Amino acid sequence: MDQRLLQLIRRMQLLHHQMRARGMPLVGRLNVCRCRLYPPDAQTNVTRSILSRVGRGLHQQPAHPLGIMAGFIREYFGARYAYHDAISPIVSPAANFESLCFPADHPGRSRSDSYYLNRDWMLRTHTSAHQAELIRGGNDRFLLTADVYRRDEIDRTHYPVFHQVEGVCLFPQHAVEAPSTPATAASPANACDTNPRQPCYRREDSMAVEEHLKASLEGMVRHLFARAASHSVDGAAHTSSEVQMRWVDAYFPFTSPSYELEVWYNEQWMEILGCGVINHSILERAGRPDAIGWAFGIGLERLAMALFRIPDIRLFWSEDARFLGQFSPAKVTHFRPFSPYPSCTKDISFWLPPATTAPFHPNDLFELVRDMAGDLVEDVKLVDQFVHPKTGRESHCYRIMYRSMDRNVTNEEINDIQARVREHAPKRLQVELR
Ligand code: DAH
Repeated sequence: MDQRLLQLIRRMQLLHHQMRARGMPLVGRLNVCRCRLYPPDAQTNVTRSILSRVGRGLHQQPAHPLGIMAGFIREYFGARYAYHDAISPIVSPAANFESLCFPADHPGRSRSDSYYLNRDWMLRTHTSAHQAELIRGGNDRFLLTADVYRRDEIDRTHYPVFHQVEGVCLFPQHAVEAPSTPATAASPANACDTNPRQPCYRREDSMAVEEHLKASLEGMVRHLFARAASHSVDGAAHTSSEVQMRWVDAYFPFTSPSYELEVWYNEQWMEILGCGVINHSILERAGRPDAIGWAFGIGLERLAMALFRIPDIRLFWSEDARFLGQFSPAKVTHFRPFSPYPSCTKDISFWLPPATTAPFHPNDLFELVRDMAGDLVEDVKLVDQFVHPKTGRESHCYRIMYRSMDRNVTNEEINDIQARVREHAPKRLQVELR
C-alpha cells in the first residue's frame, strides 16, 4: 500500500484519539487493541483525497453555509434536544448497517458503494450509524450533525463527502406528546400494506408518534425557509407560510412506517429528508424496550444549495476568501459567483492634482481602468496614501486586480492594459505618475 495513504490513515487515527482526549463523544470506538493503525486489507478502498476531507468540520463553522443550516435546525428544536457535532466518522459496519437492521446482502454494504479502512472499519455512510449508540447512552432527544461518505456519481449536486443532520425523539409508550401545532402537509393514506405500522405498538401510540414526527418536521422546514426569507434580498418571494410540502411513503430498514418529505421548489418537488417510526428492535437492543419514537435524517448540501443559491456542491469545500467571505453566522445570503481563474495584480501610484485646480475623484480612475480593461478588472483599491511633508502634495497608490471570468489572462495582455492606463491617467485625471 501507498506510503502516503498509510500516513493519512495514521493521521486520522491521531485525530480520533484527539477527539476522545478532548472529551468529544466517540461512538465508532477502536477495538483494534492498542495497535496504532487501521491495518489495510483486501477490503480497504479509502483514497487519499477522501481521507484529506476527514476532520474539516464544515458543519461546525458558524459562518459556513453548512454550519448556518445546522445552526437553524438546532435553533428550531431547541435545548430539549442534545446536540452532537463532533463524533468520529470511523464506524464499524455493525454500527453503520447491522444496528439499523440492514439485511446482509444490502447493496450499500458493498465496496463499490462505501469507503472501507479495512474489513472492520469504515467511514459512516449516514448519521443514522450513531442512532443506537446514542440511544443506549441515554439520549432521549438528540440531533447529530456530521460528515458522511458515499461512493457515488459525479455531477454538480453529488460529492463523495456530504453532511447530514440526524434527529431522534423518544417517548414512553402510552405517553406520546401531542405536537403544539398539527401537521398540515398532504400525506399518503397512513399505514398501507407496504408501509405498515409495527404490530408491537398500540395503533394510537404509533399514530401519535407519526403525527408528532410530521408536525415537528414540517415546522422545521417552515423555520428554515423563514430564516432564509428574512435575510435574502428577494425574501418576499417565499414567506414561510408559502412553503409547499408533501409526505410520500418510503422504505428504510430501520423505520416503519417510513416517509420522505418533499418541498415544492423551483417548479418541482425536491426530496429533502427521510424519516419514520424507529423499529422497536433497535430500541430494545439499545436498552429502551419501554419506548417508542421517531427519527429523521436530512442532507444539508441540497437544501443549502437551494437557499444560498450555490450552483456547485464543490464550492462548499472552497477555502477561497471570495467564497467564505460571503457568509455570516445565522444569515442566508445569496451566493455571488466569482471567477475560478487566477488574478494578476498591478499597482499605480501618482501625485494628485492640487486641490485648487481639478479635484481628483477615485471614480474617474475606476472609469479609466474599466475603459482600458473592460471586464478583465475585478477590483481596484487604494492601498497607500500620504502627503509630502515639504511640497504638501498628496500621493495615492491603487492596486488593480485583473481577472477574467472565463479564461486565464496572460501577463503580456495585462501589462499592455496597465501601460494604457498609465498612458491615459495624466491627461484624464490631471495626475502625475510616480
Ligand atoms: N439515513 C437515511 C439516509 O441517509 C436517512 C434517514 C431516513 C434517517 C430515515 C433516519 C430515518 O433517521 O428515520 O438516506
